[in-house]
Formats: sequence, C-alpha cells, structure tokens
Amino acid sequence: METFSVSSFLFFVFMAALLGFRSTQCTTVTYDKKAILINGQRRILISGSIHYPRSTPEMWEDLMQKAKDGGLDVVDTYVFWNVHEPSPGNYDFEGRYDLVRFIKTAQRVGLYIHLRIGPYVCAEWNFGGFPVWLKYVPGISFRTDNGPFKMAMQGFTQKIVQMMKNEKLFASQGGPIILSQIENEYGPQSRALGAAGHAYMNWAAKMAVGLNTGVPWVMCKEDDAPDPVINSCNGFYCDYFSPNKPYKPTLWTEAWSGWFTEFGGPVYGRPVQDLAFAVARFVQKGGSLFNYYMYHGGTNFGRTAGGPFITTSYDYDAPLDEYGMIRQPKYGHLKNLHRAIKLCEHALVSSDPTVTSLGAYEQAHVFSSGPGRCAAFLANYHTNSAATVVFNNMRYILPPWSISILPNCKRVVFNTAQVGVHIARTQMLPTISKLSWETYNEDTYSLGGSSRMTVAGLLEQINVTRDASDYLWYMTSVGISSSEAFLRGGQKPTLSVRSAGHAVHVFINGQFSGSAYGSREHPEFTYTGPINLRAGMNKIALLSIAVGLPNVGLHFEKLQTGILGPISISGLNEGKKDLTWQKWSYQVGLKGEAMNLVSPTEATSVDWIKGSLSQGQRPLTWYKASFNAPGGNEPLALDLRSMGKGQAWINGQSIGRYWMAYAKGGCGRCTYAGTYRPSKCENGCGQPTQRWYHIPRSWLKPTNNVLVLFEELGGDASKISLLRRSVTGLCGEAVEHHAKNESYIIESNEEPNSLHLQCNPGQVISAIKFASFGTPSGTCGSYQKGTCHAPDSHAIIEKKCIGLESCSVSTTRDNFGVDPCPSELKQLLVEVDCGVADINGHGS
Ligand SMILES: *[C@@H]1O[C@H](CO)[C@@H](O)[C@H](O)[C@H]1NC(C)=O
Ligand SMILES: *[C@@H]1O[C@H](CO)[C@@H](O)[C@H](O)[C@H]1NC(C)=O
Repeated sequence: METFSVSSFLFFVFMAALLGFRSTQCTTVTYDKKAILINGQRRILISGSIHYPRSTPEMWEDLMQKAKDGGLDVVDTYVFWNVHEPSPGNYDFEGRYDLVRFIKTAQRVGLYIHLRIGPYVCAEWNFGGFPVWLKYVPGISFRTDNGPFKMAMQGFTQKIVQMMKNEKLFASQGGPIILSQIENEYGPQSRALGAAGHAYMNWAAKMAVGLNTGVPWVMCKEDDAPDPVINSCNGFYCDYFSPNKPYKPTLWTEAWSGWFTEFGGPVYGRPVQDLAFAVARFVQKGGSLFNYYMYHGGTNFGRTAGGPFITTSYDYDAPLDEYGMIRQPKYGHLKNLHRAIKLCEHALVSSDPTVTSLGAYEQAHVFSSGPGRCAAFLANYHTNSAATVVFNNMRYILPPWSISILPNCKRVVFNTAQVGVHIARTQMLPTISKLSWETYNEDTYSLGGSSRMTVAGLLEQINVTRDASDYLWYMTSVGISSSEAFLRGGQKPTLSVRSAGHAVHVFINGQFSGSAYGSREHPEFTYTGPINLRAGMNKIALLSIAVGLPNVGLHFEKLQTGILGPISISGLNEGKKDLTWQKWSYQVGLKGEAMNLVSPTEATSVDWIKGSLSQGQRPLTWYKASFNAPGGNEPLALDLRSMGKGQAWINGQSIGRYWMAYAKGGCGRCTYAGTYRPSKCENGCGQPTQRWYHIPRSWLKPTNNVLVLFEELGGDASKISLLRRSVTGLCGEAVEHHAKNESYIIESNEEPNSLHLQCNPGQVISAIKFASFGTPSGTCGSYQKGTCHAPDSHAIIEKKCIGLESCSVSTTRDNFGVDPCPSELKQLLVEVDCGVADINGHGS
C-alpha cells in the first residue's frame, strides 16, 4: 500500500509537471468590452486577409513576412469548401489548398490566424465557396433553416475544426488560431428570410460554439449574433459600429483596402490616406481589432473566380499587390500608422475615449492610461480645408479629412493624410517576346460523337455540366426549303437566342456567326443577329459559357445559367420559327479538354500544327508554345492584350480565364478626401480590364515550360509576350514643412516633413528623373514643374541621394537655398531610377 501511494503521488507530480509545461505553451483567448485578451492582456490587434488558394505555397512565407514587417499581428483567411471537397467525401488539402501548411507558416513567422470557416465565404469566389454538387443534394436550400443544408454545413465545419485540433492549431492548444468565424455577412439574408433565417443563424452559432475550439467565434455583419459569438463590422468605414452587447469588443473584420474588378469594368483604387483615416476613426472610437480585406488579394487561378465575370486578378489595391510585391505608398503608410497605433496601445485598451470638440469639424479623442499618461487622436473631418486646432495649449495643423496621432498627447507621430513614404514606379518589362506557336483547331464539325446527349427542349447549363467545364454546346438542325424567299436575294433570316448567362458564341454550319455577353449585374441577355442559312439541313451550334458562378445574393444557388430560350429564327416564309422545343443535342466541354491538351504529356501526342499562325485568326483555337524560365526572381506575367477571350495554362496548371473586355467607367481625378466609394477612384478606362496574367515562378521548370491557350474568338498569338514585374524607380512627394510659422514648429514639437526614397535591396538610386521644390504637379512618371521652382532642386537631390539604397530629404525651405515663392505653400516632387549597384556603389 505504502509503495503504491508513493508511486501514485509521484505519478501525480509527473502529470502535474507535464500539464503545467503544456499550459505554458497554450494561449488563452478571451474578450471583454474593450478588446480581445491574449493571455489576459487586452490587445489592439492588426490583421490582414491573405487567402491561401490565391497564391502558391512557395509565396506564403514571403507574404507573411511582409505582413509581419508591415505591422500585422494576425492573418485572416476564409476556408474554401469547394476546393477541399470537389466531390462528396473526397477531400483535397494539397498544394495551394494546404490549409495546415498555410497556418503553420503564419505560426513560424509569428502571426496569429483568424480562421473564417464560413463555409459560405462570398469572396468573389466561384459559387461563394460552396461545392456545386451541394446544390443537387435532394431537398436542399442554402443558408436557411433546412435540414440537408445544415447537415452538410455542420459536416464540413466539424471536419475543418477537427483537422485544426489534430494539428494543435488553436491557440488553446498552443497554435496560432485566436478567432474563428461561422457563416459570413448573414445579416441581410437573415432579415430577408425572417423566422427561418433567424432560426438558422442561432443554430449556426450554437453548432460552432459546441465544437469547443477554446477560442472566440465571430459573426460578421450579423447584428443578432447570440452570445458568446461576437458580431463584427465589414465596410469602407466602421466607426459607426457598436457590438450588440456592452461586454463585447468592437471588431472590424473587413476594412476594404480597395475593391474587386469585373471584366469590362475599371480597376478600382482606394487612396491610402482615406484608408488610414478610416482605420484611425475606428480606433479612436474604441475599436480594437481591424482587418484589411485584402492585405494580399492575389489571383483567381483556374476557374475559381466568382461572378459572373470576376477577373482573374484579385489585386484589390491591397498593400501587397497581386504578385506579392510591396505596393507603395500604401504598404509603408499603413506600416507607419500601425506603429503609431501600437505606441498608443496601452492607453487605447485602458480607457474609453474622452471626446472634446476642437471646432466645427474638429475633435480630440483622448485615452488615458493612468495619471498624467495619455494618447490623443486629433481629427479634422472637413473634406477640403485644413484646420489649425489648439489642444493642451499647443497648436496643430490638421490637413483635410485626416487624423493626427499623439501617443503622449503632445508629439504628433503620424497624420493619416501626410504620406512620407515613397511611391513605387512599377513596370511590366518584356522578357520573352518571340514564342514559337503551334495550333490545334477545336473544329465544330466533329461535335457530338459519343458524349452527345439529345433531348427535346433546353437544359439548364450547370445541371448538365456540374461545372466540370465552363463550356456547354447546344446543337440543333434546321431544314430550309429551297422556296425560301431569302435564298433569292432577300434579307437574311435573324437568329434570336435568349440566355440566362453568361456568354454565347454562335456557329452556323461550322462558321462563327457572332457572340453576346451578359454582365455581372445582369447575367441574362439576348443574342440577335443575321445568319447564313442554305437550302437543306443547317447545323446550329451555340457555345454557351459560364464565366464564374454567382457568389452573393439571396438564394444565389437557384440562379440559372445557360440557354433557356426562347430561341427563334425570323425572316422565313412562315415568319418566325420557334426552335425552343425541338430536339437539342448537348456536349459538355471542349474536345481539347476531353483530350487533355493542356497537360504537358498529353499535349505532345496530339497533332499540333506548326507555323500555323499565318492561317489567320480563327475562333476556337488552341495555341501551344514552350519556353525556358527567365532568370532572376521577379514575378512573371503573360501579356495577352492581342488575344480575345479564353483560358491559359502553364505546365498543365490553369492560370485563369482571360478576356480583353475593355473597361467602361468614369476615370477621373481621385482625391483622398471625402467619403470613399469605388466609383470615386477608377483607373484603366478604355483599356482591357485585365491584360496581364500572373504566372507563379514555382510553376516553371528551368527549361521547356509548356504554355497552352484556348482562344474562343480569335487573337494574334504572335504578339503574346512574357513580362517581368519590376520596380524600376521611385517617386517621393512631400509638402513643405509648415515653415511659414516657425513658432508652430517649436510649439507642436512635430517632426519636420521629409521625403523618403528606398530602392529594393541590391539596388541604388541611379538617376534623378525629376526634382522640383515649388509648385510642381502631375503623377509619378509624369511630373511637371510649376510656376514656382527652386532652381537647385535637382542638384540638391542628386547630391543627397545618388548611389544610395535610400535617402531622406527634409522639406524645410532652407534646405533648397533661396525660397522661390515665400508666400506659397510648396511641395517637393521627386522621381528617381533604381538600378543595380556596381562595385563602386553607383547605379547602372
Ligand atoms: C436537373 O436535371 C434533371 C434531369 O433533366 C431534372 O430532373 C432536375 O429537375 C434538374 N435539376 C435542377 C435543379 O434543375
Ligand atoms: C503663427 O502662429 C502664431 C501662434 O503660434 C499666430 O499668432 C500667428 O498668426 C501665426 N502666423 C502665421 C503667419 O500663420
């Protein structure tokens, strides 16, 4: 007995030591009204969205390191059900879908994770992240109080949570996951569905909480989120937002850094001054977690883009661009904002702000962290005039629509509108421009064959294809009597095709006859055009194309795609002939898809035709070329400007859909001040919405890479080139330090404005392209001198910067010799080239 109790005592000590050891590795995550608490400490958490399938595993560590260096604490990602479960019970967590590897990468870099499981994710992702097979589960209705849906959703959510638990990835287990999200922006849907929506939302919350992850759950845009789930805000601004209970923290799960693009639309930007202003407004109201959606947007590879018509690029004007390169000044200005906010962290989480008015449009928010210790945010909401305010007996100048941050209530360390970071001049430079092409014709004569299915009437497209391909052929025959008037020089008959979306190409007797497209807002359309018919039998073949399945809207899963009719031919002797209910044959996908032409191994066994580009531009053509990987490590892209519409593959992997649809929009001057909406800052009007297509470096081998394109319309492949994305120069813009009033400088203790330039590692400033201290104007790459110009500007910048990797120039007027226009507020604009440093340290 004695020995037994001693050994069991020792066992107990051993176990306690073991558990004690383990608990030091675990992280507790809780919350209160001020913030998320990590190990009992309230934290201001800075987060950014990076979606793992929108880049490659080889890019993840670099993206995360840049996020960490940019001042982020957390990386936020959705989980994309449709890529993980392509058919019921068959899972894929490999390559770009390796969620565990992604999370472990974040952990290694020292970042937390917010895992937004959804599994509805919207995200401009195909079908909002739902597998297409889910739609065909008997009796299902998405995102409502529906048994089959709830069962499937619970199954997948459990699967993901269990996978995370098995890998010990929740913070409660010592992992990096500090938050999880269930559902996504359900509020509008819940309101539309009434009681059923409410019941489903409560069920989803309860189901998630029941999974015992040990970390809090979030529901974004869901005002009724039941305890203990935290409701959070998504939007361009969230300073109006308060959580639904006084004991929950104020979280902003999506601070939109820009906006997505659709084929045929402009490219949207969001000025960093406004984004920083929005974040500062949120923080000064007491917000304690904000997440940039997106921090890195990346690429919709393959057919993952939602839609219809979402572009392959998901750049989102994010701080890291589509290629994973730092976008300046956005990245650097936000990094400076984060540093300023972190200097205030203790005060921000210690008290509610005391708000005082400093004028009609000006306010001070003051946070106290103990006697004599405080942090202040000074705001000017006026959209076009600067304000001088007095705060604690000191004067501060606030630019329009801006907030200054004073971590000690005295010294301004950051103003949201004053960008002291350089602008990167990024260019796409040709690296391979002569490719040797072979072609393969996707002829319409051989259509049908064994895969053909024939029924009376028109079928919904996705029910037939199950999204295995974008393409579905609708084929029928029409007999034309030799007595038809049009055959003797009359007007050609007209074909009319009503489609539910998204695009159609019409072929009559194997000849291309025309195309029509819907749009993202209105996928449905009618094709109308004259057709060439002859006496006897005529073949009508309609290639209907799905360009990304819808990802948003009440019961978007019920939206239909494809040619649903009516279809008719008018201008015949009988007048109008209705083809809707006659026999139609169907073929899913292209011949080239069935033959797996895109595969580097299969492609070689097919009779490609060499030197065939001279035959002219033909619709429905496959193109193939091979090339050796360009040296260096700059990101690569294809320039497809000379092409029409289709898809492209590198070594068998799809780099996405391409389409040279020209951007319509109202591109004009974009000012940062005033409430942002995407239409305020449009770029690229009159150009193809997306001309460059990212080729991940890791998809290339040193030699013999196989590039395959399927072109629907006809384009000039000889003009396709491979580009590298390169930072070739920098611009700096800084306003004169407010030197008109020297007393202001001393009183406010503010850092003088200065202009910073920083080339990429290994590069130095090699030439000064432009420098003017005075009243210059224009944008980076096209600056012009104004009427006021300090003649020594160029020489001064040259002396300070040439041959250096980085330099800083203060914008006080004494720095530029004689003041060329003492009564005006001046600006310093500089554009420089960066080049590889030679052994003497000079650029080349
Ligand atoms: C799909 O097609 C089948 C067979 O034609 C039909 O019975 C079914 O109703 C269709 N389902 C949907 C959701 O359209
Ligand atoms: C300079 O600041 C002082 C107060 O610090 C003010 O009285 C004076 O009007 C200012 N002068 C100019 C030129 O703005």
